[in-house]
Order: sequence, then structure tokens, then C-alpha cells
Amino acid sequence: MKNKIFIVEQFGNLDMEFISEYYNLLFSTPSVEKITTPMGDVEGYGVYGDPLMELILKRTTSFMMEVYEKQLMPTYSYVRHYTPGALLSKHKDRPSCEYSVSFAISGESNSLWACSEEDESDKVEIQLTQGNAFIYPGCEIYHWRDKIETPFTQAFLHWVDIDGPNASWIMDRRPGLGHPYIA
Ligand SMILES: [Fe+2]
Repeated sequence: MKNKIFIVEQFGNLDMEFISEYYNLLFSTPSVEKITTPMGDVEGYGVYGDPLMELILKRTTSFMMEVYEKQLMPTYSYVRHYTPGALLSKHKDRPSCEYSVSFAISGESNSLWACSEEDESDKVEIQLTQGNAFIYPGCEIYHWRDKIETPFTQAFLHWVDIDGPNASWIMDRRPGLGHPYIA
């Protein structure tokens, strides 16, 4: 797993204060359609394909291509707000998440765990502070979180290898960046 996952500080040299303020505002407005997902006993919520995060996805593509030495194309972005009590169980991601970034926007994110073996023999603990990113192949690496204790907001960016088996998921099969999810 060692050559597959990376921790990057100040991912993309982004203005994290601005991004944090933007998503705090976005999540406090009733006009935005938030996707709620059951996560244990509580619901988490988030936004798929928000234009700001889609642009960050586009702009960080070249960096990700350098990291993995592959020709990548964006699939989608998602920003999630975790609420106390939420659980993220152990999973691998769907085909659109072949190469992924999870970065902390605001709040105190709790431990994220990752491993490549079912028996968790190579399990690592990852703790991210604002602006720091965990870079991983989402379809290959199991990942999960401890029960969330304090609220925090996290961004997820995903790409596929245009020469790989998941190439048909470019743009998550949408007409382009910023478009809604197609079920
Ligand atoms: Fe995941």
C-alpha cells in the first residue's frame, strides 16, 4: 500500500479560509439541495458537483497525474458535512473513484483508517487538519472512520485513468463538470 497512498499538506495551495467560509454559508442556506445519507444513527449531508469544488477538481488534475504517473480525467467532486455520531463503515469506492483525494475543509476531522488487506494487517491511521489531503486509489484501498465526535466538513475529488478499466466513468458519465449526478 505504501506506494499508493500519500498525505499532502496544503493540497493545491488553496485558500482554505475562503473555501471553509463558502461551505459554511452553502450548508446554512435552505436553497441548496443537500444530499442526506444515513450514516449509522444520524444523517450526514453534502453536495455533489458543486461548481467551486468542480473547479478545484479540474485544477488539481495535473498534480494528480504527476502523483500517479497516469493520464487522468476528472469524474466528480463531493463535499460532505459530518455530524456527531455518524459512522463511516469500511468500504472501497465505486469505479468513478479510481484515484481520489479527501481533504479537510473545516472542523476537527477524526481518524480515518485505510488498509489494502481484508485482515487489516497493513492498517494505517490518518489524521488531517485543514487543507491537508489523503490521496488514495479508492477502488483498491479499504477506508473507514471512527465514530464522528465533532462536526467537520471534508471534500472528495475523484479521477479515472483514461487508459484504464474505468475510463467510461469520465465526468461520472455527466455531460460536463458542474452537472448533477446521473443515477
Ligand atoms: Fe469512500
